[in-house]
Amino acid sequence: MEILKKPEEMTAWSKRIAREDKTIGFVPTMGALHEGHVSLIRKARAENDAVVVSIFVNPTQFGPSEDYERYPRCFEKDAKICEAEKADAVFHPAVEDMYPEDHRTFIEVCELSNRLCGISRPGHFRGVATVVAKLFGIVRPDRAYFGMKDAQQLAIIERMNRDLCLGVRIVRCETVREPDGLAMSSRNAYLSAAERKQALAISRALRECEAKFAAGERKAMPLLKVMGDILAREPDIEVDYVAIVDPATLDDISEVKDEALAAIAVYIGKARLIDNTMLRAKSG
Ligand code: PAF
Repeated sequence: MEILKKPEEMTAWSKRIAREDKTIGFVPTMGALHEGHVSLIRKARAENDAVVVSIFVNPTQFGPSEDYERYPRCFEKDAKICEAEKADAVFHPAVEDMYPEDHRTFIEVCELSNRLCGISRPGHFRGVATVVAKLFGIVRPDRAYFGMKDAQQLAIIERMNRDLCLGVRIVRCETVREPDGLAMSSRNAYLSAAERKQALAISRALRECEAKFAAGERKAMPLLKVMGDILAREPDIEVDYVAIVDPATLDDISEVKDEALAAIAVYIGKARLIDNTMLRAKSG
């Protein structure tokens, strides 16, 4: 497995792979890899000739009072995981190489970026869209793999990829959960044992919402209430949002027709955690 630090080295590597007529599967990450990332790498491995994982804690997607400085960084451990999962290359650039002094271009995916997490994290998705576009330009993948836990991020990247004709096939991957239901996240590392226990209310709320939906409830209000009530019982949880939205536009909906995204974001201790589930009226 090669570890490439300079964008131009990464691009040269990818061009060589393309010349050999091989496909590249790309897994963009900020490191602190967990089983969720591993599942993305495995899917990329199964569907492509070559696999690239990027490890880059992207400063432009963190707000001034967010966790950029303390975001877990464990490159040696992450590189071992990539190697064990048979990645062909890890791209691990320096901030100065991704954002040189004279970097002036940012990507704004309008409307979608101002909903849900975009309300409490202004500028976050501008940073995500910008870095993902840059990574696509550097790595030049055929396919890129993203987890559905970050449903809004995924919707924004899909739209950017389409609007800017980037030509990457975006592959949606199921959220990976701990055995007790907590969605895997690098930020779970911030939780104390007591907070982690309370954080289980997030997936419990989503499962209760699914159960109510399966029992025939289609109005958003009662679905939102069932989730809100479960979260409200936990003293250390501060709800950022509980929402039922159109999966394409991320607009709030009052009644579910075919499908809807039920999404939750909470603050708990030092962590901000998100999770979601897709509600589908018809199966399949
Ligand atoms: O989901 C993440 O880890 C990040 O937002 C991403 C897509 C790697 C961009 O920095």
